[in-house]
Amino acid sequence: MKLKLILPERKIQKKVASLARQIRRDFPQGELLLIGILKGAFIFLADLARHLSRPVEIDFVRLASYGAGQHTSGKIRLQKDLETPIKGKHVLIVEDIVDTGITLRYLCSRLRARKPRSLKIVTLLDKPSRRRVDLTPDYVGFKIPDQFVVGYGLDWAEAYRHLRGIYALQSAGDSN
Ligand code: PRP
Repeated sequence: MKLKLILPERKIQKKVASLARQIRRDFPQGELLLIGILKGAFIFLADLARHLSRPVEIDFVRLASYGAGQHTSGKIRLQKDLETPIKGKHVLIVEDIVDTGITLRYLCSRLRARKPRSLKIVTLLDKPSRRRVDLTPDYVGFKIPDQFVVGYGLDWAEAYRHLRGIYALQSAGDSN
C-alpha cells in the first residue's frame, strides 16, 4: 500500500479554525455539547474543541459500521452510548467522514428521540458521491472524491490514525 498526501496538516488546521469560527457565530452563547464518534473523530474533535475557544461539554459514542474492510456493511451498532443526558441541550455531532450517511442517519434518529434543543453535524470530510441516504451535514470541511483516505484519526485496519495529514491509500501498482 502507498500513501498519497491529499490534505497537508496546515490546510487541515486552517479549515478546522474556520469551521470553529462558523460554529462560534451560530452558537454565540449558551452551552454546547460536542459528541465525537469514535474512533475516527477523536483528533478532529480535540482540535475543534480547542479552536472553539469557549467552554464546551464533550462526550463520545462508538458506532460500528465498516468492520475491518473498506466498505460499509450498512449495519450499525451502538457499541458505546453517551454518558451525558442531552435533553434541552444544543448538540453538535463531530464526525471525521461522511460516506454513505448510514452511520449519521442512525445516530441522529437515536439522539433526536432524546429531545435535544438543537442537533447539528460537523464533518471534516464529506464524500457526497457515496451517499445512500438523504443526509446533509450542517458544516463540511472538505468535499472529497470517492477514494479511501487515512490519517488525522482515520484508519485502515487500525493503522495510520496518528498521521497529521490526510492521505489517499493506494495499492502499490496505482500510479495516480
Ligand atoms: C467511519 C467514519 C464514520 C463512518 C462513515 O467509521 O468514521 O463514522 O465510517 O460511514 P457511513 O457514512 O458510510 O456510515 P468506522 O466505522 O470506519 O469506524 P472508526 O471511526 O472507528 O474508524
